[in-house]
Amino acid sequence: MGSLVGNGLSGTLPKEPEMWAKYLVAKESFWHPSPLDTVIDDADWTFRLNDGLRKALLRTLASLSAIKSIVADHLMPTIVREVGLVEASRYLELQTVVEHIHLDTYDELRARLLSSCPDAAIRVCTSAEDYASQAKTAWAMRLVNDPSKGLEDRLLAFMCLERIYTASFSILVAWLRKRAFLPRMCRLVDLICRDEDRHVKFARDILNHLRSCPSLIYIKSMVSEAVALETEFAADYPALFSLEKTSGVADYIKHRADDLVTSLGCPKLYHACNPFEVRSGPPCASRPTIFERRIVSHHQLPLLGDIHDVLGPFSASAFGY
Ligand SMILES: [Fe+2]
Repeated sequence: MGSLVGNGLSGTLPKEPEMWAKYLVAKESFWHPSPLDTVIDDADWTFRLNDGLRKALLRTLASLSAIKSIVADHLMPTIVREVGLVEASRYLELQTVVEHIHLDTYDELRARLLSSCPDAAIRVCTSAEDYASQAKTAWAMRLVNDPSKGLEDRLLAFMCLERIYTASFSILVAWLRKRAFLPRMCRLVDLICRDEDRHVKFARDILNHLRSCPSLIYIKSMVSEAVALETEFAADYPALFSLEKTSGVADYIKHRADDLVTSLGCPKLYHACNPFEVRSGPPCASRPTIFERRIVSHHQLPLLGDIHDVLGPFSASAFGY
């Protein structure tokens, strides 16, 4: 047996070795973006995107920042306080730092795009102050502040925020990536999505360790609320992307929700087929990963041609472009 000195647990063996191993992987995978160099995106942003797409992207980034701020500043500190298990606490403390990096990245991306936005009218109507955006943040804050909620409820809320409330952004980014628009931004999103996937799986691991888990009725209630709010938020997406099947965006959000509830051992709520399931190319696992680099230089990031690992089985090729 190797020395335990320096493993961060005062020389003792971890009681939850699987959680501890995930913490060590997360620590080794820690990244921080170099100062955002999105100059290469400027021409796409100014000349290739139309007003509708610019508005959707700015509004979505604003909403993500608002949600991520709640996660990083309020939800994660509460979960860390309540979790009690040292191996989980270490992971969650590191995750809190990562959530702040995601928040900073969204804010910087939005600021950069706003600074070169060609239409002043778009700039003033792309904050997260519309009804649908505010409904999402109000939902999140209600769950953070409700003293009757326990750790299991907050973990479920967190999973909804990271999986369901990011669904419309996944569609938008996939659409942009398919056309090779905004490549620097898309690469940053790859990194964030990789982290989010790990965070959601770790939250599920903690839930599996708790004696009291959310009831099936409560899970259904929370997930269906989140799906309704995200669907409302993305109501104009079908027209934006000229989708033949206008229910495609809503179906994709429901599909993500079904993935979430089945990962918790619950039956599907919607049985929604993924409308964007067509994909091509080898699976991501066969490709070299970029995520284990501690410091990320956007000049060095290779393109990820396949988003299956990041966004689930969704592929923008299903849009038919
Ligand atoms: Fe996260």
